[in-house]
Amino acid sequence: MRVFAATGKHEGHEQVVFCYDKPTGLRAIIAIYSTALGPALGGTRFHPYATEAQALHDVLDLSRGMAYKNALAGLNLGGGKAVIWGDPATTKTEQLLRAYGRFVESLSGRYITACDVGTCVEDMDIVARESSYVTGRSPSHGGAGDSSVLTAFGVLQGMRAAATHQWGNAQLSGRTIGVAGVGKVGKRLVKLLSEEGAKILIADTNPQAIINIAQQEPSVTIMSPDALAEAPMDIYAPCAMGRALTKELVPRLQCAVICGAANNQLAHPVVAELLADRAILYAPDYVVNAGGVIQVADEIYGFVFERARQRAAGIFETTQKIFAAAASGRVTPSAAADQLAEARIATAEQLNLAASAGWDAHVTVHRTV
Ligand code: NAI
Repeated sequence: MRVFAATGKHEGHEQVVFCYDKPTGLRAIIAIYSTALGPALGGTRFHPYATEAQALHDVLDLSRGMAYKNALAGLNLGGGKAVIWGDPATTKTEQLLRAYGRFVESLSGRYITACDVGTCVEDMDIVARESSYVTGRSPSHGGAGDSSVLTAFGVLQGMRAAATHQWGNAQLSGRTIGVAGVGKVGKRLVKLLSEEGAKILIADTNPQAIINIAQQEPSVTIMSPDALAEAPMDIYAPCAMGRALTKELVPRLQCAVICGAANNQLAHPVVAELLADRAILYAPDYVVNAGGVIQVADEIYGFVFERARQRAAGIFETTQKIFAAAASGRVTPSAAADQLAEARIATAEQLNLAASAGWDAHVTVHRTV
């Protein structure tokens, strides 16, 4: 496999580290897209990829996405990501996670890890036994806990910004809002929307998730995922898996705004154009779902919830800025977001902002025992 060719196609990563630990069978790849703004923060995905090439492509894509997300979240952090190649259900052991932690530690703070698909706060507690560069730990280990708290809060800010752009005020009261996927983030979002006085439609493929919500918020309307996507509503909030917005779905949508937590909502980049052609306002996923990374990033300074919440509240302003840039530049909000993120990273590169802002490559997250 030609690794430089692969990274080039993904627009130039600083560093890609292949990690193999013979005793535990750990196979991991850590990709650092950029440290221009600071240490590269991003989660560890534990997944049984079909091939090594798939694992590599995923980590390269994801690490670039984290650089953009962290840049627009206003964090002085670069972007990175790691994948552990294996089935977490059968191969995840303490020894393997600790071996992984030693590899994270070996990068001396250029990469700071966190949870992602296939890893959880308890796993990060274990990784943190070997490394100082770990966030997403449990509160009892000095961590920020479940990041879905501020993810949902941030999506709410994105919705308020979209409402302001579309209807002239941030009020969500009386708006019909469809939440597709009521897992960790979706269920918290439903609660926040209920407090705002919105009319809420929900869907989930897991009947238990629906039951939990129906008990918590009896006024919600329950629909199938397909029916929800095409229902008349003000805001559609994809909060399940990625690639929910397909070319085929766009003509059938009956919403004015799309703003949800799911990563990689656009099944194809052209979907952003198709939505704009239909005057459906799309709030870029990585902008509005940044509350989670803002929450775990705060661990680096010793977690203070209120400080992280205030920073996540800034998602309102950032989303507004992106809509304004998209309108004035006659580009989609996705393109505007990418341009703003790239500009912030480029400025940091030019000014060597990381050094002047006091970024210390040896920053440590409070270590746990
Ligand atoms: P989760 O796994 O707790 O919840 C996802 C829910 O979606 C589950 O209840 C699942 O049954 C349901 N679901 C799956 N396929 C569906 C479909 N086709 N239609 C409707 N429902 C479906 O995951 P979580 O943490 O709530 O994350 C949701 C999304 O937000 C994911 O895409 C995740 O990558 C993204 N995200 C989450 C963050 C966090 O802090 N948890 C941070 C940033 C992004």
